[in-house]
Amino acid sequence: MADDLTPIEIPTVRLNDGTDYPSVALGTYGLRGSEGAAAIAGAIDNGYRLIDSAFRYDNEGAVGAGVRQSSVPREQIFVTSKIPGRYHDYDATITTVQESVYRTGLDYIDLYLIHWPLPRIGKYIEVYKALLEMRESGLIKAVGVSNFLPEHLQAVIDATGDVPVINQIEFHPYFPQLDAIEIHRELGVQTESWSPVGRGNEMANEPVIREIAARHGKSPVQIILRWHTQLGTIPLPKSANSGRQRENLDIFDVTLTEDEIAAISALGRPDGRISGQDPAVHEEF
Ligand SMILES: NC(=O)c1ccc[n+]([C@@H]2O[C@H](COP(=O)([O-])OP(=O)(O)OC[C@H]3O[C@@H](n4cnc5c(N)ncnc54)[C@H](OP(=O)(O)O)[C@@H]3O)[C@@H](O)[C@H]2O)c1
Repeated sequence: MADDLTPIEIPTVRLNDGTDYPSVALGTYGLRGSEGAAAIAGAIDNGYRLIDSAFRYDNEGAVGAGVRQSSVPREQIFVTSKIPGRYHDYDATITTVQESVYRTGLDYIDLYLIHWPLPRIGKYIEVYKALLEMRESGLIKAVGVSNFLPEHLQAVIDATGDVPVINQIEFHPYFPQLDAIEIHRELGVQTESWSPVGRGNEMANEPVIREIAARHGKSPVQIILRWHTQLGTIPLPKSANSGRQRENLDIFDVTLTEDEIAAISALGRPDGRISGQDPAVHEEF
């Protein structure tokens, strides 16, 4: 059907540097090689304009290839990458950003995040300063963070006077970090949600979500994603499947009520993290 090829347009959110970002992004963990590049190119043609990635995912090449293979001009697409723990050092950060850009085969990366704060190592402020230098150089356009707790955000802001545009954190109905969204809002930091649909686990089968989905004529996953956007966070669902990619963008023709949003947030559990990755202690390199 011709309709299948029409990109889905979605609303934008304004970041603290004045840039308008799409309100839904594409997760890419596991999308690698030619198959990954094709899935990413297809997602862009389906309407995705904000593409997540990380040095650690070993797929910056596939992201760059996907951008080139798509029918959308590069300047309309926002590419994200992240610095891994193994390079938490000023000079290593500079080289890693350069390597990321070379891997993508693009001229620049739009958004570069610190993947985890690694407070035991204690170098995230140094890394942030190196990313600011890279922003100055034009190799990246914006600097953000991931998995930062409020104290890490405050430390970066105090040390540099710069406010990260985004903090990408674990966020889904089993772990809705509503306090974090509020703190981010006060600081001027946009929240982004990783594993927004719980990696396709049993979350979508929760009776309360299924009921709301039936009421609105949407799928449970669509209801979860709309919950994210109404809370003001950018979800980054990963899908390799074109139909599900489109499903995950086609959420803006319904509006959940305050009660429905609260009912989904009430699924949250203190131990709701998918893999128990607490940024205060979690380390990956
Ligand atoms: N910053 C961090 O530390 C961090 C950590 C984890 C993840 N991330 C980022 O966040 C992204 C998303 O998280 P995630 O990949 O862990 O999990 P997710 O996006 O919550 O879930 C992805 C899973 O859900 C399935 N799925 C997607 N849409 C669906 C739909 N409409 N109906 C049914 N199933 C659907 C996908 O399968 P199909 O592909 O077959 O559709 C895949 O198995 C990652 O890809 C990565 O970019 C960042």
